[in-house]
Amino acid sequence: MLRGRRVVLGVSGGIAAYKAIEVCRRLVDAGAFVSPVLTPDSLHFVTTQTFSALASEPARTSLWDSPEPSPHTALGQRADLVVVAPATARVLAAYAMGMSDDLLVATLLATRAPVIVCPAMHTEMWEQPAVQANVALLRERGVTVVDPVAGMLAGGDVGVGRLAEPADIVAACDRVLGGGDLAGLRVLVTAGGTREPIDPVRYIGNRSSGKQGHALADEAAARGAEVTLVTSAGRPAAPGVEVVSVETAAQMEAAVAARSDDADVIVMAAAVADFRPKAVADDKLKKGDGVPEVVLEPTPDILAGLGARKRPGQTLVGFAAETSDVVANAAEKVRRKNLDLIVANDVSAPGVGFEHDTNAVVLLREDGSREDVPLADKRAVARAVLDAVLDLRSQATR
Ligand code: PMT
Repeated sequence: MLRGRRVVLGVSGGIAAYKAIEVCRRLVDAGAFVSPVLTPDSLHFVTTQTFSALASEPARTSLWDSPEPSPHTALGQRADLVVVAPATARVLAAYAMGMSDDLLVATLLATRAPVIVCPAMHTEMWEQPAVQANVALLRERGVTVVDPVAGMLAGGDVGVGRLAEPADIVAACDRVLGGGDLAGLRVLVTAGGTREPIDPVRYIGNRSSGKQGHALADEAAARGAEVTLVTSAGRPAAPGVEVVSVETAAQMEAAVAARSDDADVIVMAAAVADFRPKAVADDKLKKGDGVPEVVLEPTPDILAGLGARKRPGQTLVGFAAETSDVVANAAEKVRRKNLDLIVANDVSAPGVGFEHDTNAVVLLREDGSREDVPLADKRAVARAVLDAVLDLRSQATR
């Protein structure tokens, strides 16, 4: 969707301006016509020459040094998209207040194109009520905000405030312009292991880290889907992914049920507990009271419930975590749970399944066909799963 589109890339004055160079290069590689607009403060960190060399036309820095009589309106009117990366607290405030004090903010005020801002600043600044209020106001007005992420900041500090990764910023540009092979699809993903409480401090859980489910959600969002991620893992998700945090199987079931009717694709990558304590103690169980007897009861099978009420046009994907007879056990789940596809992983194999950064899976379709995905990082496995989903959906419409 970026090919042939005119993108104004605004760069404001923070150390993350160096990452805007990579954003510029990626936008150009994707076929966009990129017009860089640098604020005077950004020139303390990067140069116009760098952007002029990489972009589609020379970088501009001022309202007053252009051959055009009105550079901000020319840029704003021609743009298909304006993206500001990084967006400093000052630029966010000026844009929110409508104060056109430099070429970048004037261009933002002179455009009717969609706008993406990618804030980057120290955690203390990002958390300031004034900054948060400006960001909220911009969101309310329809501006897409690619939130900063946690990590190392200038000066060695660590916290939230780092500019999102260039690839995620470019994916957001593509998404806003309606691009990606999953554009128009609503994808619901579950991730992580549920925790079933025994008492206020103890629970029955499993080793799922949520890495595979989060990789699926991030990949689907990068490919243009509208993604909701129901997760029990406290991990970050890519910009644009709606995150619903849950802990227990019952909470996951309720969160999924509330969203499943609207979903075109549902992928259950979560490791949902099969059993939970029948009664949860109100107070912490005391060692001195002897070994407690914990009586278990089955949890609802969320995936089987989704299979029972699957609507036409919906694609339902399950996972199977197996340690023996992997394919046979997974095939039985495809039939019993009325799935279109199951992703079987032999979690006893090295580097596969729980907690690892990698996975190896067999994709089994409801028609009995299979595809082996050898050991690869979880994002690559996510890519293969979503490719199979697209293939299934295109077959269904043939
Ligand atoms: O999170 P990671 O550390 O990255 O690890 C990834 C993973 C190993 C958790 C993932 O690849 C995986 O295999 N997820 C499914 C684990 C699982 O619960 O498998 P299962 O065979 O027990 O369940 C089959 C399917 O039914 C799953 O889609 C599961 O989400 C679903 N289920 C299970 C029980 C239940 N009560 N409700 C369900 O919906």
